[in-house]
Amino acid sequence: MTNQDLEKLVDTSDEWITTRTGIKERRIIKRGEKTSDYCIRAARQAMEAAGVVAEELDYIILATISGDMRFPATAIFVQAALGAVNAAAWDISATCSGFLFALHEAEALIALGRAKRILAIGSELLTPMTDYTDRGTCILFGDGAGAVVVTEAEDEERGVLSTYIGTSGDQADLLYCIGSGTAGSFSSGLATNGEHLLRMNGNEVFKNAVRTMGKAAVTTLKRAGLNTDEVDWLVPHQANIRIIEATASRLHLPMEKVIVTIHKYGNTSSASVPTALDEARRDGRIRDGQVVLCVAFGGGFTWGGAAIRF
Ligand code: ACO
Repeated sequence: MTNQDLEKLVDTSDEWITTRTGIKERRIIKRGEKTSDYCIRAARQAMEAAGVVAEELDYIILATISGDMRFPATAIFVQAALGAVNAAAWDISATCSGFLFALHEAEALIALGRAKRILAIGSELLTPMTDYTDRGTCILFGDGAGAVVVTEAEDEERGVLSTYIGTSGDQADLLYCIGSGTAGSFSSGLATNGEHLLRMNGNEVFKNAVRTMGKAAVTTLKRAGLNTDEVDWLVPHQANIRIIEATASRLHLPMEKVIVTIHKYGNTSSASVPTALDEARRDGRIRDGQVVLCVAFGGGFTWGGAAIRF
């Protein structure tokens, strides 16, 4: 879906969307596709790249706020489709920071010796919960999935160097979707009255995102014992090019060191960091030995970071 397509739906323009967000187009699900379908495709590609087969997986951790069903967890459908018979699978809900929460959990489980191979996925189908009459939100979102296989490091110098997650529950009213949750009319059998749609105070979220992404990046680096000049690539959550530029500027990193995919995919929430990582790894920008700093911010609020030496 291009900005020109959106011009036909709401009072907006390609010029406004491009300058205010950096987005030119987004990917939209085909009718009938589910979040698990996206996850399964991403998982297979990650497992192939890692040389890991499904039976070897100990856990599958899926970050999503747009799962197939209220229950069971979408990770369950992924497990079944992959044939990961030796794994336990579950979902976590941490909005746009979800993938970094999954990575945090995976890294900790491996460090504790509870697992050897974990599939961590970030996936969202946000467009079904997007209000295409609200120009403040409908221009932003796209659908996607990204996955990684986290394993024990063979070389102590390489791997996940630090992770960091945080939340501040007092600002949940700035970005939410009631959906079929018990806070809404669904549980009393009433019509949903638009409760299935995402609601956001964009301006307030923007200000918080700028402040918090920078701080999360600094904390993640500090935990890894790294300086900014040791970072080869910043892989930020792709919500708005102005938030990305502000985060890079806070770290004194030039934009040439920032992986940007927002122009092609829009905001895909928990899928944005793993898909950007994957793209930059496959096209040869992220090379072995390089340090990558990932950082994200999302509704809740939630935030997270990870420093990784490839
Ligand atoms: N086209 C044209 N004009 C628009 C549009 C649009 N699509 N949207 C808003 N406007 C107008 C507004 O009505 C307003 O007009 P006014 O001045 O006459 O009142 C003006 O543009 C400015 O509106 P703002 O909302 O202040 O614009 P802002 O610069 O904040 O950009 C945006 C809006 C793009 C939504 C920005 O606030 C943003 O990116 N917010 C953060 C989103 C985010 O990071 N979400 C977190 C993750 S999502 C998740 O967790 C699921």
